[in-house]
Amino acid sequence: MTDISNSAEGDLDQTPPASAESDVVAFTRTEPAKPPRVLAIANQKGGVGKTTTAINLGTALAAIGERVLVIDLDPQGNASTGLGIDRRNRRCSTYDVLIGNSPLRDSVVATAVPRLSIAPSTMDLSGLELEIGQARDRAFRLRSAISAVNTGKSIGTSDFTYVLVDCPPSLNLITVNAMAAAHAILVPLQCEFFALEGLSQLIKTVEQVKATLNPELTIHGIVLTMYDARNNLSSQVVADVRAFMGSKVYDTIIPRNVRVSEAPSYGKPVLVYDLKCVGSEAYLRLATEIIQREKELRAS
Ligand SMILES: Nc1ncnc2c1ncn2[C@@H]1O[C@H](COP(=O)(O)OP(=O)(O)O)[C@@H](O)[C@H]1O
Ligand SMILES: [Mg+2]
Repeated sequence: MTDISNSAEGDLDQTPPASAESDVVAFTRTEPAKPPRVLAIANQKGGVGKTTTAINLGTALAAIGERVLVIDLDPQGNASTGLGIDRRNRRCSTYDVLIGNSPLRDSVVATAVPRLSIAPSTMDLSGLELEIGQARDRAFRLRSAISAVNTGKSIGTSDFTYVLVDCPPSLNLITVNAMAAAHAILVPLQCEFFALEGLSQLIKTVEQVKATLNPELTIHGIVLTMYDARNNLSSQVVADVRAFMGSKVYDTIIPRNVRVSEAPSYGKPVLVYDLKCVGSEAYLRLATEIIQREKELRAS
């Protein structure tokens, strides 16, 4: 597993840039904007449910009253498509934000779900490493962008309370940016034979980022996805992952559910496509559990 590229490894010894933004804010606002909680949804494996979780956890959190921003950091742009954002409406994307051409606010578009917005991505993002790979602050681009997102708002818009970052299936500079910006990592694991494969590499990367770029980083939790009750293997995987990761594993398990996989082709979260299906119910339970865990994390 040499997924983490040399340049991303090189990012692990930078110090955060001083933020000029906060000084400006102190002058223009009487009350400092509260920063959002930032959760990065990461696993270097593809097809484990990262994007599905970003879309549907985002929707569920918004449904229970949070103001949520999903940041699409995968050049594939599946979170953007799955939330109904047409390619024509991605004139300002996360690529523009990370190369430093636009503030994050300018890329934010509203979705059909109240209180849920998205910063969409385009294929340009796949060239990011070539463009900013030599910059001193290359690992902190997302962190700086997010730190300014709740300030300089247009009239009538509210602060975000949660930011969910949908990571690409790789431990590259983009994912390092997400980990450097996040308070915590949420790891989807698919209930299949090789579920645990790669998890130690991911945990090692989290530890490296914690030691060098972001001392507050923790693993928020592990969410088991695509659970199939008819398959003995699924329950074996659940038992193995719980034995290995203990209380880090959320109680909520996301079942394999055809409604969940159909919804993106309609540009809708499953909670909008079919609120009553087992997939929607599971993502609502996950949102409740995450808010509960957040309270515990803050209290400790
Ligand atoms: N709970 C689920 N039930 C059925 N299909 C799912 C479920 N979660 C994800 N999928 C499908 O699995 C595929 C991979 O999911 P995705 O969220 O795109 O993974 P990743 O972002 O990790 O690559 C997609 O086609 C998605 O629709
Ligand atoms: Mg994805």
